[in-house]
Amino acid sequence: MSTRRVHIETWGCQMNVADSERMLALLANHNFEQTKTPENADLIILNTCNIREKARHKVLTRLGELREIKKVNGELILALAGCVAQVEAESLRKELPFLDLIFGPDHIDELPALLSRAMEEKVTAETFRKPGPLTETTFQTDQLYSIPIDLAEPWVDNERFEATKFVNIIKGCNNFCTYCVVPYTRGREKSRPVEEIENEIRFFIAKGVKEIVLLGQNVNSYALDNTQPRNNPHEHTPFLDLLRHVANIPGVDRLRFFTSNPHDFPIAMPKLLQEIPSICDQLHLPVQSGSNTILAAMNRKYTREDYLAKVEAVRKVRPEMAFSTDIIVGFPGETDQDFEDTLSLVKEVRYATLFAFKYSPRKLTSAARLKNRVPDAVQNRRLQELLNLQREETERQNQAEIGLVRSVFLVYRTIKAPHYWHGRTFQGRLVRLPNAEGKSGDTVNVLIEKASATSLEGRIV
Ligand code: SAH
Ligand code: SF4
Ligand code: F3S
Repeated sequence: MSTRRVHIETWGCQMNVADSERMLALLANHNFEQTKTPENADLIILNTCNIREKARHKVLTRLGELREIKKVNGELILALAGCVAQVEAESLRKELPFLDLIFGPDHIDELPALLSRAMEEKVTAETFRKPGPLTETTFQTDQLYSIPIDLAEPWVDNERFEATKFVNIIKGCNNFCTYCVVPYTRGREKSRPVEEIENEIRFFIAKGVKEIVLLGQNVNSYALDNTQPRNNPHEHTPFLDLLRHVANIPGVDRLRFFTSNPHDFPIAMPKLLQEIPSICDQLHLPVQSGSNTILAAMNRKYTREDYLAKVEAVRKVRPEMAFSTDIIVGFPGETDQDFEDTLSLVKEVRYATLFAFKYSPRKLTSAARLKNRVPDAVQNRRLQELLNLQREETERQNQAEIGLVRSVFLVYRTIKAPHYWHGRTFQGRLVRLPNAEGKSGDTVNVLIEKASATSLEGRIV
């Protein structure tokens, strides 16, 4: 069979990035090669995100554009994957009949078979009216990914090799925060067995990878029993065992994990951070709001005080820990005082990085039914105020790095500028090295000489 070309566009979180890599790996073993130009493709897959309305809207706009390519190339297979596909398959089938295939995140492993079926239906459709896109969105209950990891081979050595790899350890989410669509797009939590995770990591290490990032919507509930009630705070969880296990795999120089819902962040974690030096000083702990009223309305299951206590406990053992967070402004009913509470929490924690979003009502979620919406102008003002506050803090922290010698992990350079490296400190701060020798994954000592709001600059000493 002749080689066919696939073009994938990926939106959303690291989970989707990992899923797209898996799709490419699978397709490579079915005679597909990757193309960056949609016009040349035999197959186009949009791997979509539904977290906020803006993300969903981008997908629909893009589909409108791709429809034009399909008009020119009648053979083209156009597929919709990811979190928009999962929850909106039924309405999209009717609105966008020119799609050939719609499949949810739990059907990635079946992609080659789905493609053959979609193509058969296409041929039949030349004589009969097309029945609409082939659709697969049921959730699976099995825990395994069926693709052996060595199938990923063709996609490992790409032109921008990076010594960091994300390894998915848990899919789905059971938390049902009232604003969030993820439990509906990804289903219930399903953890991968330790052996499978270990095999994948060993495979990457053999390829030259040095840093592993364990990935999940809520990594701290790794391997917890879905049927058991969960107590807060957890003294001990299987995730802590997994961290210990992974840290002991030879060649894992740096280890990170995200995301942690603060409710599920075990109180035994600080002790483990003390024990395992390869876990970086970088922790993403999304707080969402500093107001207890709003946290309760969001169903986050922790209070401002619980959160601050966990931050404090981590700082005690890791004084340089760089915390990052996500915040939603303008959740229904958020008052000026609630927002002030968020600002004061942000000041107290002194985050290294902060991601802030305006609340966006999502279909299926319970918050979408709340009536007391915050006007858009107020949301905009709060968002700006929060971002300004953080910009000052990040700048202050970056300035404080000047004159320090930091151990920097070389991440990537571009082909155009082979001596211009981008690296990260142990705290995850981006360091530019305009004149450096090395390879991705090397750790070098760098004197920090300059700082801006977004990055540091230095030279190897
Ligand atoms: N599992 C992660 C969050 C993944 S979604 C966690 O629990 O922290 C990433 C971020 O998107 C969330 O932290 C939240 O800040 C934001 N987000 C999710 N739903 C949203 C919505 N409906 N409107 C605005 N922001 C939202
Ligand atoms: Fe969404 Fe909450 Fe689950 Fe995070 S923990 S994915 S915010 S429901
Ligand atoms: Fe988006 Fe789905 Fe990730 S909604 S943020 S791609 S889990």
